[in-house]
Amino acid sequence: MSVAKPNPHDSGPAHVSGVARYTDDIPLSNPVHLAFGLSEKAHAKLVSVDVSAVRAAAGVIDVLLAADLPAANDVSPSAHDEPLLAVETVHFVGQPIFLVVAESHRAARVAAQLGQIEYDELPALLTIDEAMAADSKFEDAMVFLNGSPDDAMSGADRSVEGAMEIGAQEHFYLEGQAASAQPNEGDVIVHSSTQHPTEIQHKVAEALGVPMNAVRVETRRMGGGFGGKESQGNSLAVASAVIAMRLNRPAKMRYDRDDDMVITGKRHDFRIKYKAGFDQTGRLQSVIFEQFARCGWAMDLSLPVADRAMLHADNAYFLPNVRITSHRLKTNTVSNTAYRGFGGPQGIVGIERVMDHIAHELGVDPLEVRRVNFYGTDDRNITPYHMTVEDNVTPEIVDELVESSDYLARRAEITKYNKASPILKRGIALTPVKFGISFTLTHLNQAGALVHVYSDGSIHLNHGGTEMGQGLFTKIAQVAAQVFGVSLADVKITATDTAKVPNTSATAASSGSDLNGMACKAACETIRARLVAFAAENWNTSEDQIRFSDNIVKVGETSMSFAELAAAAYGARVQLSATGFYKTPKIKWDRFAGKGRPFLYFSYGAAVTEVVIDTLTGENRILRTDILHDVGRSLNPALDIGQIEGAYVQGAGWLTTEELVWDDKGKLWTHAPSTYKIPACSDRPKEFNVALWARGENREDTIYKSKAVGEPPFNLGISAFLALSDAVASCGENYPDMDAPATSERVLKTVDMEKGFAW
Ligand code: MTE
Ligand code: MOS
Repeated sequence: MSVAKPNPHDSGPAHVSGVARYTDDIPLSNPVHLAFGLSEKAHAKLVSVDVSAVRAAAGVIDVLLAADLPAANDVSPSAHDEPLLAVETVHFVGQPIFLVVAESHRAARVAAQLGQIEYDELPALLTIDEAMAADSKFEDAMVFLNGSPDDAMSGADRSVEGAMEIGAQEHFYLEGQAASAQPNEGDVIVHSSTQHPTEIQHKVAEALGVPMNAVRVETRRMGGGFGGKESQGNSLAVASAVIAMRLNRPAKMRYDRDDDMVITGKRHDFRIKYKAGFDQTGRLQSVIFEQFARCGWAMDLSLPVADRAMLHADNAYFLPNVRITSHRLKTNTVSNTAYRGFGGPQGIVGIERVMDHIAHELGVDPLEVRRVNFYGTDDRNITPYHMTVEDNVTPEIVDELVESSDYLARRAEITKYNKASPILKRGIALTPVKFGISFTLTHLNQAGALVHVYSDGSIHLNHGGTEMGQGLFTKIAQVAAQVFGVSLADVKITATDTAKVPNTSATAASSGSDLNGMACKAACETIRARLVAFAAENWNTSEDQIRFSDNIVKVGETSMSFAELAAAAYGARVQLSATGFYKTPKIKWDRFAGKGRPFLYFSYGAAVTEVVIDTLTGENRILRTDILHDVGRSLNPALDIGQIEGAYVQGAGWLTTEELVWDDKGKLWTHAPSTYKIPACSDRPKEFNVALWARGENREDTIYKSKAVGEPPFNLGISAFLALSDAVASCGENYPDMDAPATSERVLKTVDMEKGFAW
């Protein structure tokens, strides 16, 4: 068996020894280097842009304004509303206005500071409140409705209501945005650190005014993407290609970290207003959510992100009478984009907050309220978007986790501890996740692969997915090795290349292995079927007497190596190359009606987090985390556990230490790791127990019955936030309606408010 084994990441040794080649490491012959001159205003007319000092600076070769671009001035992935270089008006602090071409990266950056720009300032909408007041939005509010939420609310036994601010999140991929372009006899070859090579190809072709077949994009790996490289790399690739063709010289661009943080979009900050009606057991009778997403100045991927927040407003719970309204607000801030979970986590935070609030109101353990609200069977399995939940395993997973984490005993112990401890307070929370798998834009759920078997039996594998550290290439190579019964070392993993597999979707929505795994399997099976037909005829056996395993092919009584069979097949003129294609079955979604089956299946999991806070400073630690997560039948348990650990820590970081601070002029102040605190090794839970659910199996016909893993466990970080909230709650009587992120400062403030002190 090649699948289901904990094979190490194919690039593991290369990553840690520095041999792995990233976009900026690719050698180019005498390249020029690029940097953007950025807007210093959040919203203004450009009265004049004087770049004479930029031109005169040392090492500068050229400076371009929008009017100098050869064809389309657009890097938007959606609405053609995002110029590469600003035209007439700037819409946020950090918007590129001019492009500097220089002999070195440093010369370009230094010169980019020298633009003399005269602005005529316009009123800027920076906040959710300002955008709501001005009715500034990308589309009308979307609504999901099921049952009669208003009637059910007025008839409810009890109710709670509240609102929560949820901060944005910087991707902080360790490798920043980077691209390069080389002219090639009138065509262009682009290297890009992107999750979406086809999008880069498409935008570069538009910007050059050439057909897509004149642009080839290659991506071997990213040093992290996390959604931040679905669309945010377009500008660098387009700029590089434009300059490479203009000067007939290779061009490259990478953002310095500060620029990266200022220019590129982030996770959408949200406000979630809620009202929930429930009975004496905490079972929901009605829920009304209003979600507000700060999308920023351009549309980017905000509509599907906001849709996914609505699609996850239920998380693992049946909402009998429900209305979810979503506002997609246009502001003069950075254009927010995809980020692990794609809006889902914000939606889930909303309902988990409701569970917590109800439990506090009733004075019971929040776990009990969660349990009575889990999706069930018959009449308790319809989502707010009218999809039937057929594969619900939440109750089983939660029961097992309650047991394995010793939740109940620890809860009792914590209550006792807190009574005796005036300064340090502990808290615990268990939260589940149910995450929908498939792109909600149905046509994106397709993938292709290209497989060659050479005459020596070695295999060359290519597919449309990209590697960003998640281990996709390893998993897909395992699929190829499995079909041919060879060892993983016989499968050559190759860079994603728009010339090998065309028209790919972004590697996103956690669907990389589902889609590309199936496409690869189809390609390999086509070749294997040809080998089988050839062998049956050549060795005069029936096809069902042929087996591929352990590097041996058994053809009836005859045994040979896979290499020998490949050589013989080549000699008999059998085609040893094939493409494979896959499209996800069963899905159907009407986003305007808010009805359908947007997802093929759901991934499930649950986490218990225990924290301690210092009530005098707000400082806190995660003491212990236990996770039980369903990845179906794991394609690779080592990689899957790595994904779950990383996702949890990233999710916890989002809701605890990672805080983005903009001033009232729209300028981002936290644009470096000195002021923006991502989790470090020392912030991981002191005790971290992560297990794959042993009974996990995908009921749908996915690649070897596995389930997607990339994004779902991100949501388990919510348990860290709610554990902090639980610790704070032990300081007083009120429900601590803490906003996110729960930085030390915010924890301290909430503690003080619990104790009745003013801030
Ligand atoms: N893991 C690592 N190490 N680096 C990443 O950039 N991105 C995440 C997740 N896990 C990411 C990661 C996101 S946002 C997604 S959508 C999935 O990986 C994409 O890959 P997959 O579809 O192959 O799971
Ligand atoms: Mo992931 S946010 O879908 O790239």
